[in-house]
Amino acid sequence: MTAPDCAAPNHARAPLVLGVESSCDETGVALVTLNTQTGAPILLGQALHTQVAMHAAYGGVVPELASRDHIRRVVPLLRQTLAAARVELADLDAIAYTAGPGLAGALLVGSAFAEALAFALNKPVVPVHHLEGHLLSPLLAAEPPQFPFVALLVSGGHTQLMRVTGVGAYELLGETLDDAAGEAFDKTAKLLGLGYPGGPALAALAETADPVLVAEIKLPRPMLHSGDLEFSFAGLKTAVLTRVKTAEAEGGLTDTGRAALAAAVQESITDVLVAKCVQALKQTGLTRLVVAGGVGANRHLRETLTTACQRRKVDVFFPELSLCTDNGAMIALAGLLRLTSGGAPKKAGAFSVKPRWRLIDA
Ligand code: KG4
Ligand code: ZN
Repeated sequence: MTAPDCAAPNHARAPLVLGVESSCDETGVALVTLNTQTGAPILLGQALHTQVAMHAAYGGVVPELASRDHIRRVVPLLRQTLAAARVELADLDAIAYTAGPGLAGALLVGSAFAEALAFALNKPVVPVHHLEGHLLSPLLAAEPPQFPFVALLVSGGHTQLMRVTGVGAYELLGETLDDAAGEAFDKTAKLLGLGYPGGPALAALAETADPVLVAEIKLPRPMLHSGDLEFSFAGLKTAVLTRVKTAEAEGGLTDTGRAALAAAVQESITDVLVAKCVQALKQTGLTRLVVAGGVGANRHLRETLTTACQRRKVDVFFPELSLCTDNGAMIALAGLLRLTSGGAPKKAGAFSVKPRWRLIDA
């Protein structure tokens, strides 16, 4: 992505923040600033390398390979981002990076890179919580949400509902007791013999399913009527495993059967996510819903949530598709918003990463 055509920002007034993401299998670098007239965040440029092809051969992310690849990619991505935005390192006001949660080795690469660069440039750093990046990413959309809103965070490792009243003001309303929604997509995709990453593969197969066959498959909607905002997806995985085993005993899943099961899984996950979002909106009395994280790229979820929200006069906001999955832009944005909302920047130098870290503690 190159710099937008809008007027060049006044760096004297609008901070220019570099963001570095390396928590899992994507290396992302991006530059974000603020529009001096409107105060809206502007993405000046970003570069991303996904390791999907490298990990595909192993059926999932291999942490050591991920770390080594982040090392190889991060400097070329930085050069590419600076060149596209026509920005010099000396122009930066701060460097934000993902400090957690994620894979320890992968986090260490991005964090050490960002801290060392900032130290050499004598600039401050902003360690960012990965989920805060996801949560704030819809603010980069053409029509961003206003605070307060309910946020549904659905990634490979997390499923959470939050009440968001401002930058850094996050109240956990509910979360998964076991597997995350993305994990449920990935694990059931594996059971169906689909490649890594499972979520997009399962979603693509589901699109080809015969609705009549899908309607015949009864899968559980875990905790749909639990009365609270907690989730559980482990039982769904077991139900799919049982169906796959039964089919195998009867000669194996047909292509149409596999597609129908994929669509049934997607419907089950979507139904639970949508019902809990509606309940969270009712419970909080809020009328804005923000969806963020990789599963937010799922077309069926986006359409079903949009219909449910329209019916209830709730405005629903999604990040642009390219910003749903991991990227540097959301980290640069979270760093910038932390800086401009009074957060104290950290001096570059000593640092630690937090592979396990709750957003409400950030
Ligand atoms: O946010 P993300 O890129 O990384 C984490 O922070 O975990 O989310 C990755 C997750 C994976 O589980 C992936 O399968 C899922 O998001 N995902 C999808 C789709 N695109 C990505 N799940 C369902 N449908 C999709 N289109
Ligand atoms: Zn993520």
